[in-house]
Amino acid sequence: MVKIVKIVHAKEITFIHFYRTSTCICRKFIEFQIFLPRKLLYLRPTVENMGMNGLNYLSILFLFFSAVSCTETEDSSDKKREFRPVSDSHSYANIEQIRTKHLHLDIDVNFDAKTISGVARHEMVDHEATTAIFDIKALDIKRVTLGKGNEIGTDFELGDSDDILGRPLKVKIKPDTKYINIYYSTTDETQALDWLDPALTSGKKHPFMYTQGQAILTRSWIPLQDSPTNRITYSADVQVPSELMAVMSADNPKSKSADGKYHFEMKQKIPAYLIAIAVGDLKYTSLGDRCGIYSEPELAAECAYEFTDLPKMINAAEKLYGTYQWDQFDMAILPYSFPFGGMENPRLTFANPTLLAGDQSLVSVVAHELAHSWSGNLVTNATWNDFWLNEGFTVYFENRIMEALYGEEIADIHKFIEFQDLVATVEDMENGEHPEDTHLKLHLDDRDPDEGMSDIAYVKGAFFLRTIEKEVGRKKFDIFIKEYFDTHAFETISTEDFVDYLSTELFEPNNVQFNVEEWIYQPGIPDNCVKIRSKRLEHMDELAQEVNNGEMIFIGSGANLERSDFITQEWVAFIRGLSDDISPETMAELDEKLAFSQSANRVIKLEWYQLAVRVGYKSARPYMKEHLTKVGRRWLIEGIYRALAESEDKSDLAFAKEVFEQAKGNYHFVSRSTVAEILGVE
Ligand code: BES
Ligand code: ZN
Repeated sequence: MVKIVKIVHAKEITFIHFYRTSTCICRKFIEFQIFLPRKLLYLRPTVENMGMNGLNYLSILFLFFSAVSCTETEDSSDKKREFRPVSDSHSYANIEQIRTKHLHLDIDVNFDAKTISGVARHEMVDHEATTAIFDIKALDIKRVTLGKGNEIGTDFELGDSDDILGRPLKVKIKPDTKYINIYYSTTDETQALDWLDPALTSGKKHPFMYTQGQAILTRSWIPLQDSPTNRITYSADVQVPSELMAVMSADNPKSKSADGKYHFEMKQKIPAYLIAIAVGDLKYTSLGDRCGIYSEPELAAECAYEFTDLPKMINAAEKLYGTYQWDQFDMAILPYSFPFGGMENPRLTFANPTLLAGDQSLVSVVAHELAHSWSGNLVTNATWNDFWLNEGFTVYFENRIMEALYGEEIADIHKFIEFQDLVATVEDMENGEHPEDTHLKLHLDDRDPDEGMSDIAYVKGAFFLRTIEKEVGRKKFDIFIKEYFDTHAFETISTEDFVDYLSTELFEPNNVQFNVEEWIYQPGIPDNCVKIRSKRLEHMDELAQEVNNGEMIFIGSGANLERSDFITQEWVAFIRGLSDDISPETMAELDEKLAFSQSANRVIKLEWYQLAVRVGYKSARPYMKEHLTKVGRRWLIEGIYRALAESEDKSDLAFAKEVFEQAKGNYHFVSRSTVAEILGVE
């Protein structure tokens, strides 16, 4: 069967995408693209407006390509599908006309000037273009040349600058130009880079620098086509101060080089947002034959203990959904300012030291980043409107890894807490400025893709998959997911393509009726969403009610609130169960017995401090201040700042502003801008 999947109108050309599906070729697709000059194909710019002329023309093409497709041999069914341009409103790049195949970086990381400078050498696929457009943001472009070895200067032009997207860099080329070399330097305005003085590191002796590319910040440290629709390989020659070590989302050194020179290769195709580098006083600790941790030497022992289960996680993940495709899975533990818990840079997940709770209680973040090695890195969202394909799948997969290692009860506890978060998020969004943000398929075209990072993509996405799993049964669902990863490995995929794949590969063969449209294109949480119960969390809620009712007696009570083996989420459930009417005296009593304000676990602190603000428990402030100034992980600080900003007691907002003023130097741009907006400053 031949099926037209998509018609994409580029500037001078119309692309028509065909799939030929056939059961005899293991349900894999063969895809054809026809590149037709617009003038030849009498099509208007939308499919809906397609006239009869176009249809007739298409029928002829159909017949022609059906014939061609029948001559395809079995062998060709294994060929990867060709590149398919999808329009990405968050990139200026004209990748439908010309695109990078391989990027080589020759760069110098200068801690004195706080710049990365050098040259980005782009090797392009064959093309007919006379202009190549790259994305840049706050970059100083020195010159652009064409060619390899014998480089010749060429004209370039910078387009208007946009706050979110940056600006287009338009380079004049010839239809046979293969190599484009962009000489550049980052500036003070860079948003991807975080430069840390020694005082902000664990060792306090050496500076540190790292990048955060997702979603569209890579363009602020490398001039490139910053769209996930295109995948590239990359290599890099990097010069850093000789006392520091450089690591990238590529193959990495195990020890420092004598001269500060490092060479990297990433031979698998990845989207631009996954290019990453970190430079600091790093030491490698192996945790198994294909995994380990880069950390400052001071944290090495703690890391080795906290992440002991990593080899087991990798095995469990492979057992679920197939071979780990990136050879090595290492993690780099960055300074506290890192704005995320983890970032799935391939071969080298970046992680925040707040994961080091001392009791392995926050390792679900590791399971999450590992899961991205399949969902996100192997199969990538085509645009940021399809972000749930990255994160929803990953939360689902993360939980399956947790279940495999720690059992169903623990996995359910995680799901339950996530669901509570989702319900709260949906409620907020429905009353907010963008109620359509509760759709899985997002509409972020003229907004910052960062705004898509919510419980919708993550948790609604995961519950969508859990609901399908319940409908078709785990066995069939697992086969489907594994096949999905295999079929789309090293590709990008849009929501529409996924929906298509889901119905042809899972629903139709199993005769399943499912409200996919409602889940993806409608607001809220559909009624058929799976319900999760957790006895252990219900028990924590009962304990909280006892406190609320003034019935809790601590020492020697049957309630046994002082048990130390509650897991993080149990404490979170307990704190969530406490009433906003609780008195500061009871808060003080709880704090005295259970030391929430000073917990080693910052996820518990997050929950506790938000309650402390709501109930006016001011004694928590010094600890809150320590937390907010030490940690830059956005999720761990955002809710606290929000609670302070929304408090009826105006002194809370003043306190928040004062703390932010002191802390912001220790925040990456991502967290700094979020908090500044919450507090209405900067
Ligand atoms: N890829 C995300 C982080 C991200 C998303 C950065 C969008 C920039 C734009 C990462 O995998 C992530 O989700 N991190 C979470 C982990 C958590 C959900 C277990 C985090 O940092 O909190
Ligand atoms: Zn993620």
